[in-house]
Amino acid sequence: MCTDTSDQKNKYLDQILAERRSYRMFTPEFPPEDAIKRILHAGLLAPFAAVAVGNSKEYFRRFFVMKQGSQSLTAAIPLVMAEIHRMAEKLHEEMKNNIRLREQGIGFAQRLAMIKKRGIVPGIGTAPYYIVVAERKGYPPVELQSLAHCMENMWLKATALGLGFQIVSVTSAMSQNTEFCTLLGIPVGEWELMGCAIGYPQEHLSPSIRPPVEDVIRWLE
Ligand SMILES: Cc1cc2nc3c(=O)[nH]c(=O)nc-3n(C[C@H](O)[C@H](O)[C@H](O)COP(=O)(O)O)c2cc1C
Repeated sequence: MCTDTSDQKNKYLDQILAERRSYRMFTPEFPPEDAIKRILHAGLLAPFAAVAVGNSKEYFRRFFVMKQGSQSLTAAIPLVMAEIHRMAEKLHEEMKNNIRLREQGIGFAQRLAMIKKRGIVPGIGTAPYYIVVAERKGYPPVELQSLAHCMENMWLKATALGLGFQIVSVTSAMSQNTEFCTLLGIPVGEWELMGCAIGYPQEHLSPSIRPPVEDVIRWLE
């Protein structure tokens, strides 16, 4: 029988929300597969855009789990790295003629340059698990929003299990990559993708710092 009072539930929920952080350094130890399944189950419980995907015969959400050192991950890494090179080149070209993009895109351009220089995609092969979540494209096209809900549920569950979690947002760019989609066993162009890395954190981060909520609220009459 569940004896949790509302206060207790909120205490735990608030604690998990505050402790959720982006972990980017992991120990080599593999978390148990049962913990990964529990995280993916939390992802399944996330909301989805029923009107957009409700009619698809096949279930509209899929999880692809790749372990560090596996054949699949070894094959995926160069595909993602090649995509990063293409993205960097495209952004570089577009920034030449677009002043606004030059200002806005500089941080991302530097990030891509750093990844190219190091030859490592953060979160892909740097953690025990790299997990790709796929959401079938529908209309209206809200699959990325749906994936964000799924990711947040997974992130909170990983936090509650004492695991580190890192979003790997470059995964989204792989949804149009034929070789990558073939590796997953899905047709290219029909699914939107998002990814994350999961493992035991190398060191614990302190809870998030955010502005006091009063500073960012405007109550409208
Ligand atoms: C849409 C989105 C994309 C993100 N992409 C990445 C990513 O590719 N790699 C990464 O390490 N963190 C990524 N993050 C994590 C943010 O950088 C992080 O949430 C933010 O810096 C706040 O830190 P915290 O998560 O520890 O509270 C992403 C977050 C969001 C919401």
